[in-house]
Amino acid sequence: MTKPRVLVTRRVPEAAQVILRTACEVHTWDHEEEPMPQDELVRALRESDGALIVGMHRIDGPLMDEAPRCRVYANMAVGYDNIDVAAATARGVLITNTPGVLTETTADLAFGLMIAAARRLYEGQRIILEGRWKGWSPMFMTGQDVYGATLGIIGAGRIGQAVARRARGFDMRILYHNRRPDPAFEAEVGASYRQLDDLLREADFVVVLVPLTPETRGLIGARELALMKPTAVLVNAARGPVVDERALYAALRDRRIWAAGLDVFDEEPVSPDHPLLSLPNVTAVPHIGSASVRTRTRMAELAAENLVAALTGRQPPTPVNPEVLRQWRKERWP
Ligand code: DGY
Repeated sequence: MTKPRVLVTRRVPEAAQVILRTACEVHTWDHEEEPMPQDELVRALRESDGALIVGMHRIDGPLMDEAPRCRVYANMAVGYDNIDVAAATARGVLITNTPGVLTETTADLAFGLMIAAARRLYEGQRIILEGRWKGWSPMFMTGQDVYGATLGIIGAGRIGQAVARRARGFDMRILYHNRRPDPAFEAEVGASYRQLDDLLREADFVVVLVPLTPETRGLIGARELALMKPTAVLVNAARGPVVDERALYAALRDRRIWAAGLDVFDEEPVSPDHPLLSLPNVTAVPHIGSASVRTRTRMAELAAENLVAALTGRQPPTPVNPEVLRQWRKERWP
């Protein structure tokens, strides 16, 4: 029997390639940093039964129509705002993602950004490198305390809850805002539910971890930033468009909030000339929330497992639109 043909849109760890090769003929865009050009992607998808999507390729209805042979898109990320899932479901195309395996690593980064922004770590390194360190003085480089402060988590899903567990070790008061209260989470870490505005008013650290959807785009704008304390720190480890960058720039420039820690941007890669990066109270990293060797390897493996399972008639571990599997079962699977 001929093996299904799959496309991998960027170099991935060998462990994932091994999983794919057990059942598939594998074609890889074998580059670490250079993204696959769009025309190349479309051409390769047309000849593929499935694809392991690495990076933020936009997978929408017109693209799926260009490549009708491709029935599975396995996204190597937990977020799938790059994929039009409704369009996929309407076409009987399966989408999978990689939840769970990146939770703790991403929570580490979000917590690290809280500390880095509050204690001015990046600014401090720049002061040393630029020869501006004149010596110790009482209020030199003073920041905000993390220990004992109030944390406000917007989007306390898997990663937000992992941030909350870390916050307990820092004796923080934990507030959260979700669409609905989560009594089990509250019992586990002693968190309290707040409406969004109340959370913004009360928190010393606001950590944004919601998925990007039409409802969350621009969730934190000028009005919301104006509710925050002048000593508060904002961390965005979700997706850039959840926070209005222009409004954030103005709030940070005018010191209406203390600092921001950013892992994500409206446009990625962000330009080094971006106004936000000119501010001393911004700590920025290049979308590395899940970037540990172990976690990125596990994400690639899980994406490969999803792809192989879907293409060989088994249940993929983490489908995004499982209704497509039910549809397939009716049509093709005994
Ligand atoms: C994710 O998994 O969604 C990370 O942000 C990587 O894109």
